[in-house]
Amino acid sequence: MRVLLTGGTGMVGRNIKEHHNASNYCVLTPSRKELDLTNREQIRSYLKTKSPEYIIHAAGLVGGIHANIANPSKFLIENLEIGCNLISEAGSMGVKNIINLGSSCMYPRNAINPLKEEYLLQGELEPTNEGYAIAKIASQRLCEYLKIEDPSRNYITLMPCNLYGKYDHFEQERSHLIASIIAKIHDAKINNKKVVEIWGNGKVKREFMFVEDFASAVWFLLPKINELSNIINVGTGKDYTILDYYQQVAETIDFDGSFKFNLNKPTGMKQKLLDVKKIHDLGWFPRHNLELGIKKTYSHYLEFLR
Ligand SMILES: NC(=O)c1ccc[n+]([C@@H]2O[C@H](COP(=O)([O-])OP(=O)(O)OC[C@H]3O[C@@H](n4cnc5c(N)ncnc54)[C@H](OP(=O)(O)O)[C@@H]3O)[C@@H](O)[C@H]2O)c1
Repeated sequence: MRVLLTGGTGMVGRNIKEHHNASNYCVLTPSRKELDLTNREQIRSYLKTKSPEYIIHAAGLVGGIHANIANPSKFLIENLEIGCNLISEAGSMGVKNIINLGSSCMYPRNAINPLKEEYLLQGELEPTNEGYAIAKIASQRLCEYLKIEDPSRNYITLMPCNLYGKYDHFEQERSHLIASIIAKIHDAKINNKKVVEIWGNGKVKREFMFVEDFASAVWFLLPKINELSNIINVGTGKDYTILDYYQQVAETIDFDGSFKFNLNKPTGMKQKLLDVKKIHDLGWFPRHNLELGIKKTYSHYLEFLR
């Protein structure tokens, strides 16, 4: 079985590719040079030549809150192009199975937590990542429309919570929360700084899952794709405050300084916890708790620094 995995050089894609279940398939991971998803012609010719049976779509322009606020138009345009080009060309070229990656950012900002799959498009989006979310919603809807037009297409969208782990981006301009906390606290520890700044009051809650667990969910769901509903949340079912994440990283790194809150900085949605009943009912559960996930991620960070 040939599987085209887009985004194979990214954090999520690399973890999907390296997961032991990947060896049951012939996984194609073209670089952006070989397959630029903003280029429809290239997609068409790639799909024609390689004829994948499955597509796992893990490519996209992804960034933290700073990058999303600074470049909403870029996040909207690139993700819209990437998603719509790939999914519609796959439909035209007869690809029957797509696992499209969405994100918990696609849910309305004021929806009741935990966020159920049916809450999508039931309210206003969070302004700090609206461009990104609109583009991802368009891809999800496109999957659904193409499935209505031809029910033999199994085009589903997974909604991961925030992910962290191996191949995370630790550079300040690109980093997500946990990678950025690790880099900040490590820096404070080695430079003997006593205080670390937290954006906001530390009270907003986030759900984070170790990315290897997400990769295991993808490979668990792929063989069942023709039995799955259009949208499936993938998370841990548990969220923590931002301060909890700082404290867990501080414990892992053995940092004994203190935290100061910068109340002038944006913090995004108050809570973003996924309802994971659907995936639990299918029989999948994550394996890493926060302590273990952060310990492993810190080891990867130390390797990254070498
Ligand atoms: N990270 C998270 O916490 C998280 C949470 C929920 C959902 N997701 C979803 O998971 C997916 C992957 O995220 P990630 O964290 O792995 O991001 P990432 O590390 O930034 O990787 C993005 C990947 O997309 C590729 N890409 C970007 N533009 C492309 C283009 N025009 N043509 C071909 N490839 C292109 C990149 O290739 P280059 O190496 O060439 O740049 C890279 O392989 C995204 O759809 C994201 O929305 C991520």
